[in-house]
Amino acid sequence: MALISYDDTDAAAFAASRELARSGLKRWRYAVQQHLRPRTGSTLLDVGAGTGAWAHAFTDWYGVRVLAVEPAAAMRDRCAHRPLLAGDATALPLATSGFDGAWLSTMVHHVADLDAMARELRRVLRPGAPVLIRSPFPGRHQRITLFHWFPEAVRVLETYPSLARVRAAFADAGFPVSTVEPVAQITAGSLAECADRMDRRAHTPLQLITDAEYAAGMARLRAAADSAHGPVVDHLDLLVLR
Ligand SMILES: C[S@@+](CC[C@H](N)C(=O)[O-])C[C@H]1O[C@@H](n2cnc3c(N)ncnc32)[C@H](O)[C@@H]1O
Repeated sequence: MALISYDDTDAAAFAASRELARSGLKRWRYAVQQHLRPRTGSTLLDVGAGTGAWAHAFTDWYGVRVLAVEPAAAMRDRCAHRPLLAGDATALPLATSGFDGAWLSTMVHHVADLDAMARELRRVLRPGAPVLIRSPFPGRHQRITLFHWFPEAVRVLETYPSLARVRAAFADAGFPVSTVEPVAQITAGSLAECADRMDRRAHTPLQLITDAEYAAGMARLRAAADSAHGPVVDHLDLLVLR
């Protein structure tokens, strides 16, 4: 079971406030291309695809076929990308194998059994195909804006699986080689836009702090937004396992 429900309310908030403008994702486009080496006809799995924004982007950017897998009905209802399957990372609804890569964006912390997920990905990927994980990891939050304004959310992040834990699960399943790099994205055009779009229902770490902590963080964010200039740039990690 995921850390938050991904019911209709969460899914609506996610669709409204978490999807990023493609113009802010140039570094992600380049970084994924470097590791995936996509070719026309390559097939990619997007596991925990949510509303399908990444599946859609990879289809457009690289001309690959992306199969999206998502367990939450409310997220699938808001996903226009096809093909789309209902399914869980720990029991992928796939009889076939030979996929050329897997993309797991901001979802590993929701998976209760990382070892089962890693074994499932080993089963369905061709030898040498990469698993690409985009995630915040414990201890590596310093360049993510949300944790600056809501420092109490760091305590939630500390409960997420560590980089070492994820690497170990995948190494045991037959992905012995890994690299990690922070990748920049433009999360909002300005701090004011970031404040306007902020919705705790769309962020697991903000759902799991107290109401008072959230209110205090919003007050800090709004006060700072009055005098801030320039875009909000965040760095999440890209962990690649083969
Ligand atoms: C923060 S959202 C990220 C959605 C999408 N990957 C993105 O980056 O836009 C996390 C997603 O993981 C999904 N999820 C939760 N538990 C999962 C599991 N065990 N297997 C696959 N997906 C899961 C949720 O339903 C939700 O759609």
